[in-house]
Amino acid sequence: MNEMPGLDLAATAFTLNGRAVTCTAAPDKRLADVLREDFGMTGTKVGCDAGDCGACTVLLDGRQVCACLVPLAQATGAAVETVESFGDDGGETALQRSFLHHGAAQCGICTPGMLMAATELLRREPRPDGAEVRDALGGVLCRCTGYGKIVEAVMDAHRFEDAANTAVDTDGPAVGARHIRVDGAAKVSGRDLFGADAAPADSLWLRVLRSPHARARYEIGDLDAIRASHPGIVAILTTNDIPGTNRFGIYPDLKDQPVLAEGVVRYRGDAVLALVGEKTAIETFDMALLPVDWFSETPVAGIEAALAAGAPAIHDDHPDNILTRGRLETGDAASALAAAVAMAEGNLRTGFVEHAYIEPEAGFAKRVGDRIEVTACTQAPHMDLDETAHVLGVARDAVRIIPTGCGGGFGGKLDVSLQPLLAVAAWTLNRPVRCIYNRIESMASSTKRHPATIAASAAADRQGNLTALRMTADFDTGAYASWGPTVAGRVPVHASGPYRVPNVSIRSRAIYSNAPPSGAFRGFGVPQTAIIQERLFDDLAESLSLDPFEFRYRNALRPGDRTATGQVLSESVGLTECLEKLRPRWEELRRQAEDQNAARAASPRRRGVGVGCMWYGCGNTSMSNPSEIRVALDRKGGLTLFNGAVDIGQGSYTVILQICADALGLPLDRFRLVVGDTDLTPDAGKTSASRQTFVSGRAAFLAGRDLRAQFLRLANAGEEATLELGQGQVTIRDEGRETVIDLGALPALDDRDNVLLGIGAFDPPTTALDENGQGDPYASYAFAAQIADLEVDIELGTVHLHRIVAAHDVGRAINPTLVEGQIHGGIAQGIGLALMEEYVPGRTENLHDYLIPTMGDVPEIEVMLVEAADPLGPFGAKGIGEPALVPTAPAIFGAIRHATGVRASRVPLLPHRLLAALQEAG
Ligand code: FES
Repeated sequence: MNEMPGLDLAATAFTLNGRAVTCTAAPDKRLADVLREDFGMTGTKVGCDAGDCGACTVLLDGRQVCACLVPLAQATGAAVETVESFGDDGGETALQRSFLHHGAAQCGICTPGMLMAATELLRREPRPDGAEVRDALGGVLCRCTGYGKIVEAVMDAHRFEDAANTAVDTDGPAVGARHIRVDGAAKVSGRDLFGADAAPADSLWLRVLRSPHARARYEIGDLDAIRASHPGIVAILTTNDIPGTNRFGIYPDLKDQPVLAEGVVRYRGDAVLALVGEKTAIETFDMALLPVDWFSETPVAGIEAALAAGAPAIHDDHPDNILTRGRLETGDAASALAAAVAMAEGNLRTGFVEHAYIEPEAGFAKRVGDRIEVTACTQAPHMDLDETAHVLGVARDAVRIIPTGCGGGFGGKLDVSLQPLLAVAAWTLNRPVRCIYNRIESMASSTKRHPATIAASAAADRQGNLTALRMTADFDTGAYASWGPTVAGRVPVHASGPYRVPNVSIRSRAIYSNAPPSGAFRGFGVPQTAIIQERLFDDLAESLSLDPFEFRYRNALRPGDRTATGQVLSESVGLTECLEKLRPRWEELRRQAEDQNAARAASPRRRGVGVGCMWYGCGNTSMSNPSEIRVALDRKGGLTLFNGAVDIGQGSYTVILQICADALGLPLDRFRLVVGDTDLTPDAGKTSASRQTFVSGRAAFLAGRDLRAQFLRLANAGEEATLELGQGQVTIRDEGRETVIDLGALPALDDRDNVLLGIGAFDPPTTALDENGQGDPYASYAFAAQIADLEVDIELGTVHLHRIVAAHDVGRAINPTLVEGQIHGGIAQGIGLALMEEYVPGRTENLHDYLIPTMGDVPEIEVMLVEAADPLGPFGAKGIGEPALVPTAPAIFGAIRHATGVRASRVPLLPHRLLAALQEAG
């Protein structure tokens, strides 16, 4: 990407995957770019171009290096090995098989780098222990897995020399089996194509000029002169080039973000202009030459400034900077608090959190006649379609979205990023146009977790029964609305936690400021409020001399309980079962911690054990969020599952297939998959809100059932009949009777020769919330409790995690390996939220200054699964993506409090903050 002008091209000879090669390029061209561009080996991924993430790890003379830091000249005469060197014999290596077996690849963007680092280790030590693996792979970041399954896979690789060890028993039901993910082979071979990995050869490149100011006006000078003096630049797009509406945003009635700013910028990173042209011209163009006169203004920084009297408005139509409000009122919280036997109150401030997916945004667009096709990484292809059509001013059916592999999302790839500009450029220039954000642009321009300022009070009676919770929670939604209304709406429902609280009063607000837009990030505001709610419940337990674990068990929601919104819960409420599973570990670890602290009273190291609980509504809050899945059978007996529920690493392609296969009654390996493409798959909604297993999974169940019912009708067979799919025929056996259906004799339904089609559609039943937040906002809730066991160094303010023990009610574990992977990954992000991660615009726009948990930061994780079957869930299943993260930070803060007495009020609790709190506490 960064071939410097002026350096002469030179021929460099080296060995690539055992083959002698010569590359003619600038000697300082990055080896990562040489591999990807000159040799087409896109298995080597690029996440940061700065040696921070390790995604581009390859072997150079047998030693792992970040290929983004190695100039081509350094490879002269050396042996370079990439992920493409694996499986030369057509099969997978033991290490790849182990990765597949253990579910060590989720999104897969880090997987090639992990595999290469592991290869170096395994050559030297074929049976490494965990510490050796963590040491050897510590330079490669993974944002999805929490690392545990990667470590297991490397330690266990020797077992998979025999390929038979990866076999999954396919005779039994697919649901509940630890099937290897269907897209796994592509991920461990580097063949999975992400947004940056492919584009038409004749593509132009697009590069965005972004605002360096958080708040400014600007004027654009003579762009024609730039174009004339830079022949490689084909166009400089301004607002005048937007054919449709220069606005996008999540809500149909709240599209407040311009594709290109209109004389005013509202955050550092706002898009102003877009250059389109030949690759070298675009890459080497000095953006400072663009004639833009900036008139910077004092930015509105943070919630307090935005709400201050006389604060300038971020948007004229919201003069008070309040985007939206949420509210919940039940019982009489004020009276209950006034009459309380035990009362606790406190405040919390949290910061921006960056998604830090390892794959920066990338993709391309091309015009095909009167249609536009956008191929890019995304979590929400049909939402992208709507946004693109809106910006281009064309009908929906003129747009096709083709999702690439998605190298992590976590909510950050729900909003469109480069899609509208790519579409505008390709549409107006009638040339394919591609774009790859670099790490800095990705972090500067993308959405973040909402910073929150929260105040709360809670009360309990003498017996330790909760009586009241009151909370006001303000969320900094930044420059544009994005998912601000969703956060403000979801928080009141969840703010009292998974407990029976008869008197609840919640107010939430999303507030504009001159900061990056806050969007969706695993939990939609719930992780922030859970921190203070759980802290206050620890306070109440302490003031009543109750064990905090027992306090939670006593107050936990149970089947049939009424929530704060007045909803009566189904039987699928597994929180007490989670706590019962955890109880022996709680008692054991608390005792150990207290004994250890007593035995070394003079030591600065204090051990603590804490617990956090959570509940989480699966799907949209009180809003329709339907999914449709189809399964078709063609004349030859080919079975195809059409699944638009984009897999961003969590495993939805596999889980939905497992569900459909069992609902239909045919084995998994008979299905062909068509995924994601909006021309080919029906709308299965966005991959967010922990909805794909529950909502799209239910749709897949219904699709399978629909097709099965058609078979049974054709054979006049009963429910218990078995199906067997053969070449051009289906055999149906029912009570000793066998019916063979000749598929060739059935009329074709479409031009693909499909003769039978099963359709499943599901929209979770919810009701609107009234003015007091009363109603049934979700059809299903997940529950969990986690224990954190850690040590605090009270002289340094550092925290060392020993372990997290997590019990999750998932309804039904469709694929336990994938469920565990989600829990591990959520916990890792919860650790980051609690202790490490704080995004500061202009200061932490890279993975060097913005720290996410590494392999050394995530401790041992014990997972316990509870299956309180949901009556609506497919085979009882409900969501796990967000529930995995929510209880981690509360459990960690509970443990820090146990160790030191410090109550976290500023998050992340960085060492200097913990130290200050310790000093304040004396
Ligand atoms: Fe490691 Fe996604 S699997 S970053």
